[in-house]
Amino acid sequence: MLSAHCYGCHSTAVTQNGGLDLEDFNSLKQYIINDFRGDGIYGSKLYHCMLHAANALPMPPDYKLDSCDLNKMHTWLREGAKNN
Ligand code: HEC
Repeated sequence: MLSAHCYGCHSTAVTQNGGLDLEDFNSLKQYIINDFRGDGIYGSKLYHCMLHAANALPMPPDYKLDSCDLNKMHTWLREGAKNN
């Protein structure tokens, strides 16, 4: 899902000259930690961006993921965001 919707702007190849590389699990991980507050609830910044929540940069910028993709992401985060 990340490769379909995010790597277009956040892959190792694209971000060589700076920018956020989500293909790199360590940099992805920084955005998964549940310390971000948006819409009145704490959660991961990554997920808030995907929800287009208040206070977060909407990602992807030009459209919103469908609820199926968002559910998948939510499940993956709840299971501890394993590197799989
Ligand atoms: C059309 C290009 C584009 C796409 C597609 C895109 N992003 Fe971004 N994203 C950006 C830009 C530009 C920034 C701001 C500069 C940067 O950090 O690279 C950004 C920043 C971010 C940030 C940092 C937000 C912050 O406040 O620090 C996160 C997290 C993020 N994107 C996640 C995602 C996720 C997850 C996806 C896929 C669901 C995605 N992006 C898809 C262009 C994109």
